[in-house]
Amino acid sequence: MKTLDDVDLQGKRVFMRVDFNVPLDKDGRITDDLRIRAVLPSIRKVLDSGGKLILASHLGRPKGKASPAFSLKPAADYLSSLLSLPVPLAPDCIGQEVDRMVSGLSEGQILMLENLRFHPEEEKNDPEFSRKLASLADVYVNDAFAVSHRAHASVEGITHFVPVCAAGYQLQKEVEYFNKGLENPQRPLAVLIGGAKISSKIGLLEHLLDKADFLLIGGAMANTFLKAQGKAVGKSLVEDDYLGTAVKLIEAASKKGVKIFLPVDVVVSASPDSCGDVRQVSLDKVPDDTQILDIGSQTILVFESVLKNCKTVVWNGPMGVFEKPPFYMGTFAMAEFLATLDALTVVGGGDSAAAVRKANMEDKVSYVSTGGGAFLEMMEGIELPGIVALDNCGK
Ligand code: 3PG
Repeated sequence: MKTLDDVDLQGKRVFMRVDFNVPLDKDGRITDDLRIRAVLPSIRKVLDSGGKLILASHLGRPKGKASPAFSLKPAADYLSSLLSLPVPLAPDCIGQEVDRMVSGLSEGQILMLENLRFHPEEEKNDPEFSRKLASLADVYVNDAFAVSHRAHASVEGITHFVPVCAAGYQLQKEVEYFNKGLENPQRPLAVLIGGAKISSKIGLLEHLLDKADFLLIGGAMANTFLKAQGKAVGKSLVEDDYLGTAVKLIEAASKKGVKIFLPVDVVVSASPDSCGDVRQVSLDKVPDDTQILDIGSQTILVFESVLKNCKTVVWNGPMGVFEKPPFYMGTFAMAEFLATLDALTVVGGGDSAAAVRKANMEDKVSYVSTGGGAFLEMMEGIELPGIVALDNCGK
């Protein structure tokens, strides 16, 4: 993969796709700046090399219409404060005014384009729209790992019309850590997997059976596995249509020598909103009128005893309803334990990454991915169109 170090940036118009799809509070303030901080090294490299930097991103899902609520103004202002440099925001991402502003750029200056998804052509990967974006660029840089699973115009289409393409440092780092974590891991490799549904992670679970030595399963997803093994799970969230799939996955794991660990005790309550009757019970004592909402302390100990002997740990998906205080223990315990390990620890996916940050463990694990869906698709073994496109640049 060609990177920013391999291309001549001096005096060039560098179109850098970033993912500034960051959460905003009701006053438009950025509540998590990871994705912006992550691309600062690439931004600085272009500016220091005398490039004219054009930043492009989406924010949210404005459904192809311009809307002030989805403006990238907060991101442009935030970046400006981080760099102590002006980051003007163009009124659009294509058009005469944008052309004029790009022509006015001097070496070492930045222009941020307005939300790409104000145009429906972006998500349709429309060739004409891609060509218009490409006309702004001498060099195209993808430093937007988190959107690289989308074959959109600014991610994939544009590469066909630009002579030089490269990966930004953040994209490079994501791929490197992913490869160290799952493609060429030091063994044993444990994958800690959580979240609500098996149905959204079947491909991933199947793929992991060819990669991992140990699979540790928590979150509501574990309920379907537990029920498939004949355990009573009360009113817990279960995907009854996937009980057969769960059985097949357990059988396949045993054939492939992958050891699956499921919860041995759990935290239950009448509902995620009822904190009054929260109890920890062993698996054979889940009351009929309760839901499983977190893993229990015995399970935490079992998971820890497996993880502590691993050289590589990859984590995706929370262990419980971690957004609600009584049910965050399992997820936070995993975040804290990962931070103590003498192993490569890679965390990916929106919720698990958020949990690691909430537990203040972000700097203590080896790597927290900026990707949500993109990380999941990589874990499933899918080649991301935005990464593949960089190798077919100009074709
Ligand atoms: C993300 O937040 O995962 C990326 O920015 C992609 O956003 P999307 O799911 O709206 O395409």
